[in-house]
Amino acid sequence: MTRRLTLSLLLAVAILASHFLAAAEICLPAPPASLAKWYKPENSRQQWLHTMFALRRELQALEHYVSLGDQVLLQRWSERFAANYRSIATMVPEWRDALDEPKLVELEQAVAAGDYPNVARIARSLQASCRSCHSDYRAVTAMRYRSPDFSTIDLPLPEGDAGDNKSPAMSDYQRIMESLSHYLNGVKISAEDGFWPLAEASLSALKGQLTVLEGSCATCHREGQQLDALLSGTAGDLAALTQAVADRQGKETAKTLGGFSVTLCARCHAAHRLAADMRDELQRHSP
Ligand code: HEC
Ligand code: HEC
Ligand code: HEC
Repeated sequence: MTRRLTLSLLLAVAILASHFLAAAEICLPAPPASLAKWYKPENSRQQWLHTMFALRRELQALEHYVSLGDQVLLQRWSERFAANYRSIATMVPEWRDALDEPKLVELEQAVAAGDYPNVARIARSLQASCRSCHSDYRAVTAMRYRSPDFSTIDLPLPEGDAGDNKSPAMSDYQRIMESLSHYLNGVKISAEDGFWPLAEASLSALKGQLTVLEGSCATCHREGQQLDALLSGTAGDLAALTQAVADRQGKETAKTLGGFSVTLCARCHAAHRLAADMRDELQRHSP
């Protein structure tokens, strides 16, 4: 009896614990696979997003012509809206059930009858279907299909580099990041322990990798963007670091190394790493 009681107590605790653990999880729905067809590179434009912008514009036009009582233009915009709204189900069949077809038919009837108060009311309530899909899918979709993709960038990486002994599944970008981090810490460790020639060798390897990395920015950035400021700001920090290492100055090396990591690594990570990590994760679960 007591054993049974202990067992059920244990079970209860386990269930409770799993309940609290589960409550701490955040689940994101994967965007349907057929969405990919409506984004670059499969599509020549970001067609899904343009359809969305059109829907918002069309709703605004409906409201506008209801308030003016312009039946002809109301009819025209309502037809466009209905076509675009229904196109959601053609573009992404998985989302057919997310649409409120009965409400759309009501809207079309109210427009045809020139029943303006009802057109406005129905248009507003139709937006519940927009909001419900957005709250589930908007952020993950933008992250998956519109954040910059670093995984396919080819970099001319030297053979036998520090990033090489990692998993072969790593992208070139992940490899160079591993090696940047390796050399950066190499400078720090060797300087701290007074192995200056080794610190110099790590620094020179780091500079080599930075030149490779710099060449990759132009894949997506044009000259004259904020990027130039980022890289030239970094040049000063790198020169100060080089000087400190050459002078065998332990404290100064640590300080300039920290400054350099913030201006280059941390600032670029703030812009790119979070999104790249999320994108990688999403891509793994919805290829
Ligand atoms: C079944 C899902 C779904 C429905 C229904 C839907 N949307 Fe969207 N919408 C999305 C997704 C996914 C995105 C994110 C696209 C992106 O950022 O690339 C989006 C993005 C948008 C955006 C861009 C937001 C921004 O400013 O970045 C607008 C505007 C928009 N939707 C309007 C509408 C309107 C208006 C309706 C209803 C009449 C609607 N959508 C219905 C899925 C949906
Ligand atoms: C795969 C494409 C891609 C590559 C490669 C890339 N960027 Fe970007 N970067 C972008 C996009 C797109 C933006 C605009 C913001 C966004 O959507 O993330 C951006 C924004 C930035 C920003 C934020 C400030 C701004 O201009 O809006 C910085 C800083 C930046 N990039 C630095 C770099 C540096 C430094 C490199 C090279 C080492 C680089 N990026 C390589 C695509 C890329
Ligand atoms: C383009 C601007 C950019 C610059 C400059 C940059 N990084 Fe990164 N870093 C990234 C991106 C993007 C990722 C995510 C790559 C991915 O997982 O696809 C990343 C990921 C990393 C990672 C994780 C690698 C992994 O295994 O996934 C490390 C470590 C790292 N960076 C170190 C550094 C260090 C150290 C510096 C400075 C010397 C630096 N990075 C400069 C963009 C940058």
